[in-house]
Amino acid sequence: MNPILELQDAGRFGRMLGMAPAMQKLYHHVARVAPTDATVLLLGESGTGKELAAQTIHALSLRHNQPFLPVNCGAISPQLIESEIFGHEKGSFTGAERQHKGYFERANGGTLFLDEITEMPIDLQVKLLRVLESGSFMRIGSAQEIACDVRVIAASNRDPEPAVAEGKLRLDLYHRLNVFPIFIPPLRERGEDIALLAQHFLEELNAAYGTPKVMTPEALACLTSRSWPGNVRELRNHIQRAYILADQTIGVAALGADFEEREPAKGATLAVPVGTSLAEVDRQIIFATLDLCDGVKKRAAAILGISLKTLYNRLEEYGLAERLTEADSEDSIPPPLDEKEVPNLPA
Ligand SMILES: Nc1ncnc2c1ncn2[C@@H]1O[C@H](COP(=O)(O)OP(=O)(O)O)[C@@H](O)[C@H]1O
Ligand SMILES: [Mg+2]
Repeated sequence: MNPILELQDAGRFGRMLGMAPAMQKLYHHVARVAPTDATVLLLGESGTGKELAAQTIHALSLRHNQPFLPVNCGAISPQLIESEIFGHEKGSFTGAERQHKGYFERANGGTLFLDEITEMPIDLQVKLLRVLESGSFMRIGSAQEIACDVRVIAASNRDPEPAVAEGKLRLDLYHRLNVFPIFIPPLRERGEDIALLAQHFLEELNAAYGTPKVMTPEALACLTSRSWPGNVRELRNHIQRAYILADQTIGVAALGADFEEREPAKGATLAVPVGTSLAEVDRQIIFATLDLCDGVKKRAAAILGISLKTLYNRLEEYGLAERLTEADSEDSIPPPLDEKEVPNLPA
């Protein structure tokens, strides 16, 4: 039997887990596109596994022994991003004290993962398109073309078409990236996969700390009924928290009360007349969500399924960047545990 099909039967594809039909389709597309050099566009809400899918594509490609470099376009300041991506020559701008090799040069032979592509400044999108078309680029402050062999995988947690309509994503770049789009479904649409993933994350923790903790069927049912706006990342963080809090058995109580608070309030709805532009719908839902969260942007961004940076960008567009900064200092949600930062527990 084809080894890839075996992996699919087991409800797992490399490090990606899930039995849901939408995940099976995803595995199929990943397996098909991986060995090619095609540009891939991964679409899906935050935490659905876009970066993991990109790593899997790289791992299954002929480039797997070469670098895989992830770049979050929404996390690098607009002043630095060009030099980060394309590099610069010594003295090309104030502060450029020596030559710097950018991501394209460092990823040579491998894969560059451009996350949150709609957050890339528009003038840089022109330059990115040029590299994708020509296979070469120039460092800032140099007129010399440098050839590069880099496969690009881009990702966005925004629907790209409204981003194009709003002028955030260039249409020509979108077409170039959209050679092979792959949609990753939100966790809430994966049914039994929620329980499967929860058990898997718990087993990982048990293996790491040599513990035999178990989860009750009620707790699993409770997890399955949640909407998970932060998707697999949020589920993983909650399992870690519950694991830390519970002695031997993880019951509903160990899932935590603040978890409930983060669910959108029932009955808070927004009526939008048909004929409203998508940009206006975006605006209204952003404001309504901020109201729901008492202006706490971190929480609003989690519910909206966008990064905090993206939320700030929107507010800036609406001329409201300052309006809510104070509420942020009252933000009471502890930062989620990163998967790599589980505290060392006594065995
Ligand atoms: N199908 C999956 N199986 C196992 N782990 C997953 C799966 N999808 C996501 N994860 C894990 O969830 C976390 C978030 O995934 P990530 O790829 O960073 O999401 P995104 O890039 O869409 O925000 C990571 O720790 C990742 O390993
Ligand atoms: Mg990501």
